[in-house]
Parts: sequence; structure tokens; C-alpha cells
Amino acid sequence: MSSLPQHIAIVMDGNGRWATQRMLPRVAGHKRGVDALRACVRHCGEIGVGVLTVFAFSSENWNRPPEEVSGLMELLAVALSREVPQLKIDGVRMHFVGDRASLSERVREGLEQAEAATAGNTKLIFNICFNYGGRWDIAQAAARLAASHQPITEASLHSAMAMSHVSDPDLLIRTGGEQRISNFLLWQAAYAELYFTDLLWPDFNEAALDAAIADYAGRERRFGKTSAQVASPASARPERQSMLSRWVA
Ligand code: IPE
Ligand code: IPE
Ligand code: MG
Repeated sequence: MSSLPQHIAIVMDGNGRWATQRMLPRVAGHKRGVDALRACVRHCGEIGVGVLTVFAFSSENWNRPPEEVSGLMELLAVALSREVPQLKIDGVRMHFVGDRASLSERVREGLEQAEAATAGNTKLIFNICFNYGGRWDIAQAAARLAASHQPITEASLHSAMAMSHVSDPDLLIRTGGEQRISNFLLWQAAYAELYFTDLLWPDFNEAALDAAIADYAGRERRFGKTSAQVASPASARPERQSMLSRWVA
């Protein structure tokens, strides 16, 4: 197993608390969160991570005060116009994952332009989950399969889901101290290694990402097997199996 996760997913949490601690409006925390994200994307590209997926706005975040929701929409539009030119140069391919139907036309156009501008890039796939929920994704995939009379299997659901263009995340990081999934990647995180840090997202930097990756490197991913099988696949040989079966009888 490679010690470098090929796909890292992040719940970027703690922007609001970061701002409140400094007597700033919550949106100031979100702005600093964009700075932290820029550094994180760059670092992933530098160290050879193939896919970075971040949770930027959940299906449930519409329930926040209207001024925070509109601040987040505005911030997305501004950040895209500022950041996309450099991301394009850096070889980053952007994908927006989530329900676009309820986004304003301005935001939708921004997403489409960012995706089109970076479509030829191959160095790092950068998925931004915006108006995304894991339940939404599973439900929309099932509905599409049902509408086209296709059987519902793990494979068909996977290919109908909004993240079908990438492999499942290896490492799922959540900043901000909470230890929950909050409707992120419910299907895809089935075997992700989970990493929680108390750092608030605006304080998350390259060293913090390196620490998460180092922690991941020390994990044993078993995918349902035993530790011995993972250490040496030969330990699962049939002749050994029959020897061991004596103990079960
Ligand atoms: C995460 O930070 C960003 C979004 C959900 C948009 P929060 O805004 O949730 O920050 P806290 O959890 O209130 O500190
Ligand atoms: C999860 O954070 C969503 C994003 C980071 C975009 P929340 O702050 O919305 O999650 P809860 O409400 O604490 O579970
Ligand atoms: Mg939060």
C-alpha cells in the first residue's frame, strides 16, 4: 500500500468559530478559509496527491442565516474569478459536485466556466462539493437508474453518482473538532481512513496536511481481511486454510 493517499477528502469546518474568536463576522472566517484551501490545493499538487475533494457547502447549509448564505455564494463567485487562472496554470482540473438546480445563474455560470477552463488539466483533480449531500447523491443516482429501468446494483449506483469520475477517498479529514460526517460522501467513504483535528479550517496549513498524511501512513487498511492476510497474502493459501479448519471443528 502506498503511504501517500491518492484521494484526500476534507470537511473544511471551523470558519465561523475562527472569525467569532476574533470578533469578526462569520464571513471573514470563510474568506480566510479560501486562503487555507488555496495552500492545501497547491500542496496536494506538489506532493503528488491525485484527487482532492472538499466540502464547501452542504445541502443543509441553506438553513443558515440568509446573510451568511448569500455571503458564501458571493465568496464562491469572487474566489472563482480570482483563483481559476492560477489553477489552470498549475494543472488543476476542477469539478463541482452537487445539486446545481437551486444555485443562481451567476454561480452556475461561474462553476461551468471554471470546469471548462481547467478541463484539459491532469495533475490534480479538485472536486468542490457545493450544495452537496451524500443522501442527495445516493437518491439522485437511484432515481436516474429507476427512470431508465436499469437494475440497482452497487456498480450501477456507483456509476450514476456524482463522484463516479474518481476512486473512493483514502483519507477523510475533518477540521474544527467535530467528529461526524455531516452528510459528506456517505457512499464513497465506506473504507476511508478518518482523521479528525481540532484545528479550525483557516488555521489548517501544509504542515497540518502533512501530519494527517503521516497518520494515514501508519494505518493498516484491511478491507474486511485479517491483519495477517494484509501483511502477507500467502497466509490465505488454501492448504493453510484446511490446516486451520481443524481448530474450528
Ligand atoms: C465550515 O465552517 C464552512 C461551511 C460550512 C460553509 P463553519 O461555518 O461551519 O464554521 P463553524 O463550524 O461554525 O465554526
Ligand atoms: C459541514 O460543516 C459542511 C461543510 C464543511 C461545508 P457544518 O458546520 O455544516 O456541519 P455541522 O452542522 O456542524 O454538522
Ligand atoms: Mg461548522
